[in-house]
Amino acid sequence: MSGSKIKFGVIGCGHIGKRHAEMVSRNADTELVALCDILPQEKTGANYTGVPYFASAEEMLASVPDIDIVSVCTPNGLHAEHSLKALNAKKHVVCEKPMALKKSDCEAIIFKALQMHKQVFCVMQNRYSPPAQWIKQLIESKALGNIFMVQLDCYWNRDERYYKAGTWKGKLALDGGVLFTQFSHFIDMMYWLFGDIYNIKSLFSNFTHTKNTEFDDSGFVSFQFLEQGIGSINFSTSIWDQNFASSMIIMGENGTVKLGGQYMDVVEYCHVKNVEMPKLPPTNPANDYGAYKGSAANHHYVIENVVNTLKNGFTASTNALEGMKVVEIIEKIYAAKQK
Ligand SMILES: NC(=O)c1ccc[n+]([C@@H]2O[C@H](COP(=O)([O-])OP(=O)(O)OC[C@H]3O[C@@H](n4cnc5c(N)ncnc54)[C@H](O)[C@@H]3O)[C@@H](O)[C@H]2O)c1
Repeated sequence: MSGSKIKFGVIGCGHIGKRHAEMVSRNADTELVALCDILPQEKTGANYTGVPYFASAEEMLASVPDIDIVSVCTPNGLHAEHSLKALNAKKHVVCEKPMALKKSDCEAIIFKALQMHKQVFCVMQNRYSPPAQWIKQLIESKALGNIFMVQLDCYWNRDERYYKAGTWKGKLALDGGVLFTQFSHFIDMMYWLFGDIYNIKSLFSNFTHTKNTEFDDSGFVSFQFLEQGIGSINFSTSIWDQNFASSMIIMGENGTVKLGGQYMDVVEYCHVKNVEMPKLPPTNPANDYGAYKGSAANHHYVIENVVNTLKNGFTASTNALEGMKVVEIIEKIYAAKQK
């Protein structure tokens, strides 16, 4: 593969599938060779000159045998099925977040990837934002000393403009819940920095979505980190009208840091022994989906990482094990629901 372009197929041509298609088309080392969606092309609007469009993943994989890697951009509850189909056809996989809705499905994907000698790249593109890169390096340098407390707050708006009838959003089997669909980037960030959690207590409520979702919209979650310290996640999608904030307060023995902004995209506070806060480059703005906004527009980094891993011996920036751990943590949080 070292000389030629890496050939991508995309399964699911909605909002994010078109983003993958666009980022693949713009990268000099990658080539978009096939697209598929159960909706007709006129509906998805995924038009790339000379790129064939199929009505199913099976048809695409059978018709375009030289695909190297498949971007799985279908609803959450279909990620496992489509990743496994791609792996069975001996393709690498880029899987949108979350990797699946059950840890057991992630295990099946990892097993198949090992069996087929293929890579699975999980999409957690917020890791590329400058505050995320900076805080990762700060935590790894142990500048904060022992970590005492971590508080993750995620307060967004998702109302009837988002949960439209007839879509996968709001359905337990396809969406899975707000921790999977809205807040898994932030849970990934916490796991990336501080590792796994246990002794979880979760209190949930459904304030404004009893008519349009099959799950709770808000909650308080408390836990211990396996390594050190205690933590909490406070979340809601019942904020009126627009996203409010996503933030992480980290309190260590040598100082305190707060990442904040609407999308955890700025360092709001840093007071740490012997640390001078550098001036960070601006974070890419959030993806804009019209009535609502989501996570950072960093997908081009994901495609670059695929190229660097498959061609230049780099490692996946979010590998399948990390993708699975985030799913496992969310599964444990939901399972710890207090009656
Ligand atoms: N990384 C991020 O920041 C980010 C942002 C938004 C969405 N996502 C993830 O991307 C995925 C898609 O989200 P979206 O907002 O693009 O949703 P979407 O509804 O806009 O697109 C999903 C597409 O999948 C198609 N589809 C459904 N079943 C299919 C099947 N069996 N075969 C082929 N195509 C099928 C649908 O017709 C639709 O076009 C979700 O898992 C979501 O969590 C990630």
